[in-house]
Amino acid sequence: MSQSPISGKAYHEATKHSYLSVQIDPNYVDASTQPSPFKVYPKFYRRVKLNLNNPVHSFISLTSAITLEKIYKDSPYKLRVNPSAGALYPTEVYVQVRGIEGIVDGIYHLEVENNCLTLIYELIDDGLESYIIPGKSINGFIFLISCVYYRSSWKYQNRSMRYCLLDSGHHLGAVSASAFLHNKDIQLIFDFDKLALNSDLGFENKEFITACAVSGELQDKKIRHLRLKVPFVCGTDYFESNQFIEDAYQATALQKSRQQKIEYPQFDLDKDKFYQTVWNRRSVRRFRKESISQEDYLYIVQQLQQPIPTENYEQIEIYSVVHRVEGMTPGLYKGTYLVKTGNFNEKTGYLCINQAIAKDSAVTLFFVSDYLNYQTAMQIAGFLGQRLYLTSNYLGIQCSGIGAYYDDETQELLETNKDVLYGMVIGIQVGS
Ligand SMILES: Cc1cc2nc3c(=O)[nH]c(=O)nc-3n(C[C@H](O)[C@H](O)[C@H](O)COP(=O)(O)O)c2cc1C
Repeated sequence: MSQSPISGKAYHEATKHSYLSVQIDPNYVDASTQPSPFKVYPKFYRRVKLNLNNPVHSFISLTSAITLEKIYKDSPYKLRVNPSAGALYPTEVYVQVRGIEGIVDGIYHLEVENNCLTLIYELIDDGLESYIIPGKSINGFIFLISCVYYRSSWKYQNRSMRYCLLDSGHHLGAVSASAFLHNKDIQLIFDFDKLALNSDLGFENKEFITACAVSGELQDKKIRHLRLKVPFVCGTDYFESNQFIEDAYQATALQKSRQQKIEYPQFDLDKDKFYQTVWNRRSVRRFRKESISQEDYLYIVQQLQQPIPTENYEQIEIYSVVHRVEGMTPGLYKGTYLVKTGNFNEKTGYLCINQAIAKDSAVTLFFVSDYLNYQTAMQIAGFLGQRLYLTSNYLGIQCSGIGAYYDDETQELLETNKDVLYGMVIGIQVGS
């Protein structure tokens, strides 16, 4: 297994899109063969139905809740608080609860389809801390995000490695938004023994841990590794392996991220309005070619610059291709610094594989990075993506993630050699 710092870059390189690669392989799939996006443990496990009137239940439920059900081309879709590339939802959430009144100390799987917690492991002197923060115990919550990668590789094949990680970052963002609403601090952890956890949680090669978020009181106390293994339960109704994804995950699972001193963001948001924003968050499907105000744009930029509460960090640089912001010269910006002037809307539409939303938006953004740890960098990009969705929606501005773009040509527009990890668009929606 390679632990070289270039391996993340090699896997990113191997999943680049170009004009030619998309022509050759346009990713068509038969929708009726989509693997199930819900994991359900066998019915003999004990379950706790989540009640939104209970603040602890509501905190956990809002990290993953279903917020809209709709039928698209005869298939039912259940959309959630977290967005997902292609609405395939590869991510799962597990939460360890310790020392919280009214809930048995244990590791629970969040069963999103039925809005309940499934107790998959009862704690004695053991727990998740020993894999994540050895020597400490947490009275509170440890959230683990994992990916059932076949849900995404079914359609996106090797490029789904990117989407699994971006989706994980978005899911961390959803955990963080719920924490904010429930007056809880949260810390993200990316560097820990993911491989040992995959084994002890019984994931085989079909699911893998990507990140962790902890919330609660830290104590010095030695906690043991799990004394028993959790049995394997498949996260889909059927499975096909993808060796590229498994290799990419393994090679990048234990690399060290850059380190920073933890700082917490300060959001001055109206909680009732933000709660509604979390429930109503959606991806835009069509923009009106209309401007947003400069005040709103600057507010959004400022929110993106707020600290990310983690010691394991990779720097993300944000390029904004401004098409329609009142009082701003159209062009390529880094933050608020104008790199070059020009109307690049046709260009960004083309770069994002001819998607009209990248042409008609007010701003098309690209997140780039020169990272050590690929998994951390991609997830921080997704985390920022969730922040961008929620801040924009809070202001009545619509947003979407863009995972599909021609990598090399986008780097040329941005005049950077750094990897382009993610694209995003914001603007005014048709019909609003
Ligand atoms: C990583 C990622 C990549 C995405 N890429 C695209 C894209 O290229 N084009 C697009 O129209 N939507 C894209 N989306 C939006 C998803 O299609 C959307 O989140 C999903 O359909 C669920 O709908 P919702 O966000 O309204 O809940 C992306 C979302 C994520 C999280």
